[in-house]
Amino acid sequence: MAVLGIKVLGAKVLRERAAPLEAVTDETRRLIGDMFDTMYEAEGIGLAAPQVGISQRVMIVDVPDEDGVHQVHALVNPVIVESGSETDKATEGCLSIPGIEEDVTRPVRVVVEGLSPAAESLRIEAEGLLARALQHEIDHLDGILFIDRLSPLKRGILMRKWRKKRRG
Ligand code: CO
Repeated sequence: MAVLGIKVLGAKVLRERAAPLEAVTDETRRLIGDMFDTMYEAEGIGLAAPQVGISQRVMIVDVPDEDGVHQVHALVNPVIVESGSETDKATEGCLSIPGIEEDVTRPVRVVVEGLSPAAESLRIEAEGLLARALQHEIDHLDGILFIDRLSPLKRGILMRKWRKKRRG
């Protein structure tokens, strides 16, 4: 297991559509283990493989439910197969855009299917924070960042703030 470097906004890999895996292998499981180490080290609640420079459709989440019970999932080739029509707004951040947070509107409920690290079929019926985290991470696999889900005005303000921070 190892903590990997996290790519930040500006890295090309964050804007690429990640490739589906044809098989879940030991190498995939090693990547997932490293991604958990990296996510916990950075105190995040989700991470997608492109964020560690690997353009593959792999993502993880560790999100507490209302009772504080951790919902931990690792998914290969995840797909949102159902999205509820109800939406809500909540603050999101991203380990690849440190220091930037904003409210993002997303469906409250989603159903996600994919493969587990053991290559078994998974179906997750999620709502609330888990649904939000799954959508955020699956967006990463399509080269989409949460700032893309904001109005151009809001995004412009955040990008000025980001550039200022990066200059230090
Ligand atoms: Co993110």
